Amino acid sequence: MIHLNVNGAERQVDVDPSTPLLYVLRDDLKLHAAKFGCGLGQCGACTVLVDGEAAFSCITPVALLAGRRVTTVEGLGTAETPGVVQQAFIAEQAAQCGYCIPGMIARAEALLRQTTTPSEALLRTAMQPSLCRCGTHMRILRAVRRAAKAMGGGVTDPAEPTS
Ligand code: FES
Ligand code: FES
Repeated sequence: MIHLNVNGAERQVDVDPSTPLLYVLRDDLKLHAAKFGCGLGQCGACTVLVDGEAAFSCITPVALLAGRRVTTVEGLGTAETPGVVQQAFIAEQAAQCGYCIPGMIARAEALLRQTTTPSEALLRTAMQPSLCRCGTHMRILRAVRRAAKAMGGGVTDPAEPTS
């Protein structure tokens, strides 16, 4: 039995220790925000927060997570009461198909927990590991700039004017 802390709740799962966290989240805990894209740490669709930092859950064995805090997008807000980053993604209509968006939101959250006043270069570097097959990257960047501002900060040298 493996003990996990997911979205603030203690959870126990009876799985092989080498099972990727993504499978445990989706199949055992029925948390479906994080998505399977490549399974190889190359697309970011599966990104979650581990102790506040972005992590590819598809290549993270669940055994490594004992005593660490896992946060998925389900832990950042709900459809009724979206969190700050979610609100910004909605306001900027940053999703097309939406498949990459939970990973994008997790990655943006990790950045904005580190600093709410990132430079444009840091913003782009932080978001770079997540890919959007629909090509909404510019809207996604706008959403993260908006979220930074909503948190009382803002991108210091935004590539586009922020409203
Ligand atoms: S599914 Fe994990 S990085 Fe692509
Ligand atoms: S909105 Fe479709 S993959 Fe990003």
